Amino acid sequence: GGIRVFSPATVANLVCGFDVLGLCLHEPYDIMDVKLLDEPNIIVRSADGYPLPEDPAQNTAGAPLIEMLKEVDENIGFEVLIHKRIKPGSGVGSSAASAAGAVVAANHLLGNRFSKEQLIQFAMFGEKVASGVKHADNIAPCIYGGVTLIRSIFPLDIIPLTAPNLYVTVVHPQIEVRTADARAILKQKVLLKDAIKQWGNVGGLVAGFLKEDYDLIGRSLEDFIIEPVRSMLIPGFDELKKKCKAAGALGGGISGSGPSVFMLSKEEATAQQIAQIMAAIFTRIGIDFHTYVTRI
Ligand code: HSE
Repeated sequence: GGIRVFSPATVANLVCGFDVLGLCLHEPYDIMDVKLLDEPNIIVRSADGYPLPEDPAQNTAGAPLIEMLKEVDENIGFEVLIHKRIKPGSGVGSSAASAAGAVVAANHLLGNRFSKEQLIQFAMFGEKVASGVKHADNIAPCIYGGVTLIRSIFPLDIIPLTAPNLYVTVVHPQIEVRTADARAILKQKVLLKDAIKQWGNVGGLVAGFLKEDYDLIGRSLEDFIIEPVRSMLIPGFDELKKKCKAAGALGGGISGSGPSVFMLSKEEATAQQIAQIMAAIFTRIGIDFHTYVTRI
C-alpha cells in the first residue's frame, strides 16, 4: 500500500524565538508519495528531477526513515517520491517538510504506532543532515500545525499554541543563504541586557498568541540577538521592515535562517499590500524575488 501526504512550509524562529518557536503555513507544501517495501531498504526519489543525494543517510527524508526503521522489528522498508514545491534553501522549512512528511507518511503505513514526539525525534535527523544541527522549530509546526513552542529538545518538550487568524506575507529574494553558514556567523555569547529584552519578547509573543492580542504580538516581534547579525545577509532588510510596519503589518523578520523575510498581518488586504511593498524594494535593488500571501 501507499499514501500521499502534503507536507507544509513553516516559518522558524518567529523573530525573537531562535530555535524555539515556529509556525505552519497553509501553503506552499511538498507532495510526498510513500510506499511500504518488503525488504529493509530506503529509496528516496525526486518527482521533478532535481538532484537528491544517492545515499539515503545523506538525504533529509531518508535519514529520519533510517532512524525509524531501527525501532521497527520487521523486514520492511520505504520508497519515497518527493514532489518538491517548497524551494530548498528559501528559509521556509524545505528540509523539515521532507523529513516530517516522510515520517508522518511512514507512520501511517505502520498503523500509527509512533507518537508525534517520536516522529519529531526521527525527523530531527533530517535537519542534522541539512544544517549540521538538530532543531525542531520547523519540524514541530510542520507535524502539529499552527504555532508551536519547542521548550526543549533534550528532552523533547513541545507545546502547541493556539493562535489567532493571521496572514503571512513572504518574500523570497533569490540569493543563497545556507543555514549552516547563517548559524556559523552567530555570536556564541549574549549580553545579559539583550537576553532580558529577548526573553521578555518570547514570553510576550507566546502570551500574545494565546490571548489573541495583536498589539502584544506586534510589540514582541523584535530580535536583539540573531537579527542584527543575520540581517546583513539580506539586502534592503531594514528598509523593508520599516516600510512594512508603517503600512500596517504587525511585524516580522527573517524567516528561519533566511533569505526569505516574512510579515504577519491581521487583515488579508494589509498582507497583500505588504507583498507590493516587498516587491517594490527588491525590484529597485535589482534582486529577483518571489512573494506570496498565505495564512497560518
Ligand atoms: N532555527 C533555525 C535557524 C531554523 O534559524 O538556524 C533554520 O532552519
